[in-house]
Amino acid sequence: MKLKYFGHSAFQITTNTGVTILIDPFLDYNPLSPVKSIDVNADFIVLTHGHGDHVGDGLEIGKRCNSLFICVNELAEWVKSKGLNAHNMHIGGAHNFQFGRVKFTIAHHGSLTPDNQYAGEASGVLITIEGKTIYHTGDTGLFYDMKLIGEMNKIDYMLLPIGDNFTMGITDAVKAVEFVNPKIAIPIHYNTFPVINSDPQEFKKQLEDIGKNCRIMNFGEEIEL
Ligand code: NI
Ligand code: MN
Repeated sequence: MKLKYFGHSAFQITTNTGVTILIDPFLDYNPLSPVKSIDVNADFIVLTHGHGDHVGDGLEIGKRCNSLFICVNELAEWVKSKGLNAHNMHIGGAHNFQFGRVKFTIAHHGSLTPDNQYAGEASGVLITIEGKTIYHTGDTGLFYDMKLIGEMNKIDYMLLPIGDNFTMGITDAVKAVEFVNPKIAIPIHYNTFPVINSDPQEFKKQLEDIGKNCRIMNFGEEIEL
């Protein structure tokens, strides 16, 4: 399976069987993304919450590719109101899709769609594919229940924000990695806008000082998981 990072919170997973999953596809207005929405395809689109920098270009891509959206109920209803397909889920619930298993977690954050509609709770998401589990925390502050998420799931890759202001900054993100204890932490949600400027090398250094692995992905980089 492959994981590609577009900057901010946007990722593409391509499974060994050729299924493409986008997470929070904020591309056209994402100054870090080397690709535009027209360049990507998606069988599935996972959204962590309704904010514009996460829904991103999801609606356009979903329309063009006839993608199935996977998100919490209220946001799924909003997606459906735009004439698109969605699988409604909610926090604490898991479901097996053709590509693997998706489970939603809490996130301490808000949620409102770009057209100011109620979008339910913000979430994080655990995605298990081909024996590996990715935990995309979504936008969130630090919370102690991350410890429980780490206890109950063997997390291979934790994708978590370090940009501060709207989410965890470096200090809290380091603590979050301690709580979850993933094999590898990947910093996200930084340097997209001046207000969330943060130094991923500093994050990496602080993690390595406590014996944790960090992988800084370049914008547009794809890695084999
Ligand atoms: Ni947000
Ligand atoms: Mn955000």
